[in-house]
Amino acid sequence: MTAMNRRRALTGSAAIVVGVPVLAACGSDDEPTADPSSSPSPSPSDESPSSPSTDGTETPSAAAALATTSAVPVGGCLVNADAKVVVTQPTEGDFKAFSAVCTHQGCLVESSSDGEIPCPCHLSHFSLEDGSPLSGPASAPLAPVEITVDGDSITQA
Ligand code: FES
Repeated sequence: MTAMNRRRALTGSAAIVVGVPVLAACGSDDEPTADPSSSPSPSPSDESPSSPSTDGTETPSAAAALATTSAVPVGGCLVNADAKVVVTQPTEGDFKAFSAVCTHQGCLVESSSDGEIPCPCHLSHFSLEDGSPLSGPASAPLAPVEITVDGDSITQA
């Protein structure tokens, strides 16, 4: 009876000894975040660069701007990942736009100056003129997107 009590006592103390360092380690990790002086200072500084209101007046209206004409290469395309739109310039001064979501499995196509709209996932290529599939596994064209070119600005209509 005393031997069983010793064994139980030993196993119980061993479990406690093993458990204490784990709790201590968790406690030490929580301590730096519990300091009130250090945690509030990084958050306001992180918010100011990421807030879009500092860049322009109203970002919802500016979100319709897809690109500038000079950013779209002649014979190439430029992807606006936020809008998921690819703007092409098949010939100088002729701008078109399509959904940047590949019709194969939904990857975003890439910007290019190689005369086609490439998809990096499975190497489909689409026409700059009409978004039709030229090669690769995609069989459906990219959906056209209505745009307005006003001076140097290309916006989604
Ligand atoms: Fe574009 Fe497969 S998702 S080729």
